[in-house]
Amino acid sequence: MEVVIVDGPDEAGILVGGAVAALVDATPTAVLGLATGSSPVVVYRDLARRHVAGDLSLARVQAFLLDEYVGLPPDHPQSYRSFIARELEARVDLADAAVQAPDIQSDDLVAACAAYEREIAAAGGVDLQLLGIGTDGHIGFNEPGSSLASRTRIKTLTDQTRRDNARFFASLDEVPRHVVTQGVGTILEARHLVLLAFGAAKAAAVAAAVEGPVTAMVPGSALQLHPHATVVVDEPAAAGLHLAGYYRETWAHKPSWQGL
Ligand code: GLP
Repeated sequence: MEVVIVDGPDEAGILVGGAVAALVDATPTAVLGLATGSSPVVVYRDLARRHVAGDLSLARVQAFLLDEYVGLPPDHPQSYRSFIARELEARVDLADAAVQAPDIQSDDLVAACAAYEREIAAAGGVDLQLLGIGTDGHIGFNEPGSSLASRTRIKTLTDQTRRDNARFFASLDEVPRHVVTQGVGTILEARHLVLLAFGAAKAAAVAAAVEGPVTAMVPGSALQLHPHATVVVDEPAAAGLHLAGYYRETWAHKPSWQGL
């Protein structure tokens, strides 16, 4: 795992945006795994800047969402499908039809989850998966206790996650209890995982995921099992990392040819 401690979210956006741009430059038909929440927004802004400057086209890219709320109409502003349409598609040349999400409107959610897994596989798998982390250590919506081998399925949110996400809704009551999320096992099949976390509220979750034991109680710790995982954090989110000095030194002396 590579841990990069940056000065702030904007620097993280440029760094990770650069990795996405390099991937798409090398493979214009790359498959991106898109995350929601506030953390990846800086990456989407950076991709938009590169697109406006004429340096990036996502016209041939395919994308898969990590997770989605169950029970919100598709056009609800807080549905993750709407979020990606607003934060990314509206700013770059990524076609709406190229972005897939679990079909949470289906009458048969179990079948819809299995179909989503098949769609990801049919696309050849995800090349680069963006991730955030919940204050309880979740990735996607894999709450503590999620099997490290789990696949796309319905989950129930913890109180902590519903409270964290209530800021996006008019009230706590409006935050859905159920979601569909790619499983930890699904996420681990992406070829490159890039997790972003900012702010002191994430410090404990980041420390547990990066330096704690690998455990279903901290789904983010599954990144330790992945051969190519990058964690990009600001100083407050890095505050609980014992090896912060080593990560800084490694980054400062990284061979320039290596990339993220
Ligand atoms: C939500 C999403 C996660 C995200 C997490 C953190 O629960 N399902 O994918 O990582 O929130 O969000 P934020 O980046 O806003 O802190």
